[in-house]
Amino acid sequence: MSSAKKLQKIEVTAAKPYPVFLGAPLEELGEYLHSQFKDLGHILIITNPVVAELYAERLQKGLLDYRVNFLFVPAGETEKSLERLSQLTTAALRCGSDRHTLVIALGGGVIGDLAGFFASAFMRGIPLIQVPTTLLAQVDSSIGGKVAVNHPAGKNILGAFYPPRAVWTDFTTLDSLPWGEVENGLAESIKHSLIADSGLFEFFETQAESIKQRDASIWREMVTRSVSVKVRIVSQDEREQGERALLNLGHSFGHALETKMNYRGVTHGQGVSIGLVAAAHLANAKGLMTEAEVDGIKRLLNIFGLPISISGQDPQGLLQLMKADKKNQGGRKILILPQGIGQTIISKECTDPEILDAWNQVVEGN
Ligand SMILES: NC(=O)c1ccc[n+]([C@@H]2O[C@H](COP(=O)([O-])OP(=O)(O)OC[C@H]3O[C@@H](n4cnc5c(N)ncnc54)[C@H](O)[C@@H]3O)[C@@H](O)[C@H]2O)c1
Repeated sequence: MSSAKKLQKIEVTAAKPYPVFLGAPLEELGEYLHSQFKDLGHILIITNPVVAELYAERLQKGLLDYRVNFLFVPAGETEKSLERLSQLTTAALRCGSDRHTLVIALGGGVIGDLAGFFASAFMRGIPLIQVPTTLLAQVDSSIGGKVAVNHPAGKNILGAFYPPRAVWTDFTTLDSLPWGEVENGLAESIKHSLIADSGLFEFFETQAESIKQRDASIWREMVTRSVSVKVRIVSQDEREQGERALLNLGHSFGHALETKMNYRGVTHGQGVSIGLVAAAHLANAKGLMTEAEVDGIKRLLNIFGLPISISGQDPQGLLQLMKADKKNQGGRKILILPQGIGQTIISKECTDPEILDAWNQVVEGN
């Protein structure tokens, strides 16, 4: 029996179903590929030098029967570009890649999005395995099939829905993740709890200290429960026609802030954190959430060192930036709002003064 059969997995039941393996050792991916791909000869591992230094050897151990090439991409969001895509294509052709090549995306969300988009376009699509190594990638970006590169006009402008054949999640890769990167994943994971799992929110509250101390079994549960939320939502609405939009909770506010600050001085996780607080205040103003619940969210984010306010910003300018949000419909702002803890709604009813009030609650010195 292949060892993959013994691994914990959650199935994404989209048009093309695929498993998300949890606690899957890097060394055992090769065995799984043997069981799934009969005529596979060549593997391209797209990764970055930091991740490769830490984990390439372990992954390679299981791939000895295959011809393997590594393509390295420097770290950073700016690498999600058309230029890098073109360079990857040239390098892939040079090492004899063809329609029977399989891509392994080994890294965080940048590698997952870039390698995924490459896999979707190379020879009109070659198989992709996501091997996420950041918390954000494990709980969020590796699941759901969204792949993309950026364009000077904006983030993720060129992209596709291209589901991987499997997501292979080895929790031990998180051991080396710097805390700043952990925060980005925590913000998304707390977001998942607010959207659809009040039990996970309580878990964050009761296990906060163990999470901060990186207790392995607690992290395992945190990732698994968070993955369950994401899998459930993308399985119901793979192409974001409805329910999947709920995953944008906190992001309309967060993106406006990141854009205003030119992606400097605020990380994505920090932007989401402040965005969650702003959305909670707005929900409170609309009677969807109690003040005690808003305080509970702020307290939780605070415990993990995530910000709940920002100074030196102009709320009016931030409101204006939200007008450009691609989720808006015909001039109406579409906002995702929490309804208590563990439920979320899509609201088309938020007025500019209400949104401005929410910004005022999170911008210090106003
Ligand atoms: N496709 C989606 O659905 C989706 C969802 C959310 C975010 N995203 C995208 O994800 C990207 C952000 O991803 P991210 O937060 O993973 O950042 P990232 O991919 O930039 O990785 C962050 C840093 O962590 C390092 N790193 C990765 N794994 C490591 C490990 N195990 N140990 C030590 N260092 C490690 C990397 O070298 C990198 O410098 C953004 O481009 C965003 O648009 C996509």
